[in-house]
Amino acid sequence: MVILGAGPAGLVLGNLLQAAGVGCVVLERAGREQLRARQRAGFLAANTVRILERHGLADGLHRRGRTHATCEFRTEDGRFRLHYGALGSGEAHTVHPQHLLVDDLLTVYQARGGQVRFGTEAVAVQGMDGTRPTVTVRDADGRPGHWRGRYVAGCDGRHGAARRSLPPGAVRRHHLDHGVSWLGLLAEAPPSLDAVAYAVHGRGFAGHMARTPELTRYYLQCEHGSSPGDRTDEQIWDELALRMRAAEFGPLRRGRFVDRSVVQLESDVLEPLCHGALFLAGDAASLISPSAAKGANLAVLEAELLGLALVDDLRHGAPEGLARYSARCLDHIWRAQEFSRWMVRLLHAAPAADDPPFQERLRRSRLASLRTSRSCQDWFAEQYVGV
Ligand code: APR
Repeated sequence: MVILGAGPAGLVLGNLLQAAGVGCVVLERAGREQLRARQRAGFLAANTVRILERHGLADGLHRRGRTHATCEFRTEDGRFRLHYGALGSGEAHTVHPQHLLVDDLLTVYQARGGQVRFGTEAVAVQGMDGTRPTVTVRDADGRPGHWRGRYVAGCDGRHGAARRSLPPGAVRRHHLDHGVSWLGLLAEAPPSLDAVAYAVHGRGFAGHMARTPELTRYYLQCEHGSSPGDRTDEQIWDELALRMRAAEFGPLRRGRFVDRSVVQLESDVLEPLCHGALFLAGDAASLISPSAAKGANLAVLEAELLGLALVDDLRHGAPEGLARYSARCLDHIWRAQEFSRWMVRLLHAAPAADDPPFQERLRRSRLASLRTSRSCQDWFAEQYVGV
């Protein structure tokens, strides 16, 4: 079994297979220190925590994770809070930065005897129509090599070798560009409030999400085509303060930005999520906008579904799980995509083509429903934390 990518999807899958006695190797182009340092997502849904607990992978998040159950909306009509942990199905998030989760998963995987080849870039997956597909690789010195297995799991993200190797016409790609760009920021500063904050403002969206007591994630909607260095730290803090109405609701706790990146909010879904002996999970299977913190949670869910199906096939000769893998994942993916799209439309003005004044009134009424209707709040809480 060959797994491409040591992110949440690849490492949860590797751990399940290793624990079931299925030999596998994880091929990861980055080095271990790079993985440790890469700041990505951090909001784990309750179901994700349950999956990690089921497979003995939750020690780290129980030690360092923090429960998060409140979000705050700031708009021209004032601010309101949703204690979503007491709404809907009553579930909360666990904040556990992804680089810490990946480090936990790697540690357990290697303790279980799992093989990882760092600095090994998968170039292509060949022979996926047969029973011994081959992954050609290039090591850190550019030397070629290859790995073979009964199956290959593409967990190497949307730009990885797995997607690139799919034969033309093997899968259909559904794609949506939400028409919104975010400047993603990581501030060396404690959180400015004890909730996720979504600021809806005429100048654009701004978001605040805790990561650790020392680091806080901010998002600032920016023009399409912006680059991370367009503004100074001071200019960014002033714009964040303006959009988050700091004058009215309290100052932001400023600090140096230690990471900046511009992300175009896009979604895509491949159908099906497999071809022959190649199965996709995580971002390699579908990309979701960061507006609802679903990406890493979908990756873990898909990794468990794929891992259990592979164990059934390889250890018990029962291929039904693999046959159902794609359809089962797609049910969850499309629900997450729908809610993520709803969040994008809630938090951002409509693109010029969509009759902005009319859309703006719709947006304000959606926010009013979220502020005043208990059934709307229950629906939101269930979608927001559920996967
Ligand atoms: N060969 C080997 N490794 C590769 C290759 C390649 N050709 N291309 C990418 N990788 C590695 C990356 O270095 C990364 O470590 O694959 C891994 C993919 O990990 P993620 O991007 O984290 O993807 P995934 O496990 O699918 O998790 C997806 O987690 O990062 C969050 O919210 C984010 O939605 C995202 C979710």
